[in-house]
Formats: sequence, structure tokens, C-alpha cells
Amino acid sequence: MIPKTCINLSDQRSFNMPMIGLGTYSMTGDDCKEAIRTAIDLGYRMFDTAVAYGNEANVGEAISEKMRECNNLTRDDFFIISKLSGSYHRMGLVEKCCQMTVDRLGLNYVDLYMMHSPVALMSEEECLGKGSKPTAVDDTIDPMEAWEGLEKCYQDGLCRSIGVSNFNENQMNVLISKAAILPVVNQIECSIGFNQKLLRQFCHQNNITVMGYAPLGKQKLPFLKNDRLQQIANSFGKTSAQVSLRYLIDKGVVPIVKSANCTRQQENLDIFNFKLSTQQLDELDAITGDQRACKM
Ligand SMILES: NC(=O)c1ccc[n+]([C@@H]2O[C@H](COP(=O)([O-])OP(=O)(O)OC[C@H]3O[C@@H](n4cnc5c(N)ncnc54)[C@H](OP(=O)(O)O)[C@@H]3O)[C@@H](O)[C@H]2O)c1
Repeated sequence: MIPKTCINLSDQRSFNMPMIGLGTYSMTGDDCKEAIRTAIDLGYRMFDTAVAYGNEANVGEAISEKMRECNNLTRDDFFIISKLSGSYHRMGLVEKCCQMTVDRLGLNYVDLYMMHSPVALMSEEECLGKGSKPTAVDDTIDPMEAWEGLEKCYQDGLCRSIGVSNFNENQMNVLISKAAILPVVNQIECSIGFNQKLLRQFCHQNNITVMGYAPLGKQKLPFLKNDRLQQIANSFGKTSAQVSLRYLIDKGVVPIVKSANCTRQQENLDIFNFKLSTQQLDELDAITGDQRACKM
């Protein structure tokens, strides 16, 4: 059983969220479904998807199938995260995008719905009309417009909580000063190689849970081969990946880690039976640098 952490909603209510979730970026179709089914068998209950990943229907189908197959699994056992598409930031479009997500998932509501990025993108039609690339930025839309749309989604019951992703401290400050409903989560890249100390502190001071994506640096960054990380991992009989995930948990960050492989999914959950000492955490802190897997 994965331990849970408490999320506090603006209206004094709170509910629990698993302390680690499975990322689904780059998994689609039957492969995605199979990976989610395996993960559920192993104990994962939190799944992170997005319109942009093109797999919301696969994630929802796998969960629905498992609920049908296992009498002891209900919708309440799962925590589903999805994210607003950048080209739906305009008021009115946000609710439409969220409703489409709920329909594709087929799970009645999303547990956490977030703005994927503060940056709005032009719609496909606008891009075609202007001859721009499909990812062209639309800087005429204030992020608050999208946030008010998310607030509406929350009030209408399409989602149980709302949050943001890829917001820096300045963007968070503006949002916090203007929002009627505060974000419960900021999902940001966070790993030993890019530990986001200041933004983490800011979020925690403002009662906003930090969710860390690319916690393994997509397996392409040097920090996983750091000598001290490997020594610490060996001392516990763990892998560098496991210590990397445990480091985030000890820093109060909820890691979202992707694996399509059953053995590695299991490995990534096997992190709750050891604890890093203060000295080890300090040594791991020192590894941080600009080792980012995602350029935003
Ligand atoms: N909000 C955002 O803008 C944003 C941006 C990026 C990512 N995300 C979310 O965060 C999730 C995680 O990030 P990510 O997928 O980019 O990167 P990641 O989780 O850091 O790394 C995933 C890679 O590591 C491998 N891996 C997983 N566990 C391993 C282990 N124990 N040992 C060795 N290799 C391992 C996976 O391969 P196998 O599958 O073969 O195991 C995959 O190649 C995404 O899937 C997505 O849901 C959000």
C-alpha cells in the first residue's frame, strides 16, 4: 500500500493523495493500457495524463477494466491527474476541454485538473490561418483567464481539485494574489539534478504541494551516475533510481515517475522501507545543477 499525503482545498476540505504516481507520457494505445493494468496490480493508484499525451482514453479504459475485474477496486481508490491543453486557455474553452477529458477518461471526474503551462498556445485553426507552427504561443491570453475556467470546472464538479504546472515563483505570486480558489499543486520538473529548492520552499510556504515530474531526468542526465548517489544507493541495497525518488519524498515532493516496465514499476515503489539521513540528504542536495530533462 502506497502511503498518502494530505491535500488541503481552499474551502477547508482536504483529501488524500498517494505519495507517488505513475507518469504516462509517451505511452499510448494497448501498450499504455497494459502498463496501467500492471501498475494497478503492483499498487499504483495515481496516474498522470494530459490532453497532450493522447492517451487519456487508454488510461481510463485500463482503470475501468480493472474496476470491473476486481470487486474491491472503486473509483474512490484512484487519483487521476490530467491537464488543460495550451490551446484551450480562453474562458469557455477551458470547461469544454475539461469535459472532453472527463468523457475520454470515462471516470466521471478528474481528481486533479491542472493548467499544463502558464503559456497559452494558438488553436490549430488560428495557426493554419496565420501560417504559424501548431505550437505558436498566444500571448494575448492572460493565465488568469484559464485559471478562472479551472475554478469553474471545480465548482461544476468536473474535477475534485485544481492546480498548475510549470509555474515559476512570479507566476505563482500573481495567481495567488488574484485567484478565488488557490491551486493545491504545482507540478514542476524536480530531481536530484535540478532540485528546485527555492520554488519548492515558496510552494510549501503557501501550502501548495509540489509534484515532481521527470524525477529520473528521463534517464538521460548525468546525475544518476553520480558517485555519491551510487554509494548511498549501494549502502541501502537500492538503485540510484530508488534513492532519487526517496530523496524527493523526503523533501516533501510527490514524484511522478514513468515506467512501462513491470520490474521497474515495482522497483520505483520499493522506496518506503528506508530513509535518508540528514547528512545524506545534504550530500544529495549538493549534486543539483541545471540538469533539466525538459526545456520549458
Ligand atoms: N507537467 C509537465 O509539463 C510534464 C513534463 C514532463 C513529464 N511530465 C509527467 O511526468 C512523468 C515522468 O516524467 P518522464 O516520463 O518525462 O521522465 P522520468 O519518469 O524521469 O523517466 C522515465 C524514463 O526512465 C525509465 N525508468 C523508469 N524507472 C526506471 C528505473 N527504476 N530504472 C531505470 N530506468 C527507469 C523509463 O523507461 P521504462 O518505461 O522503459 O521503464 C523512461 O525511459 C511523465 O510521464 C508525465 O506524466 C509532466
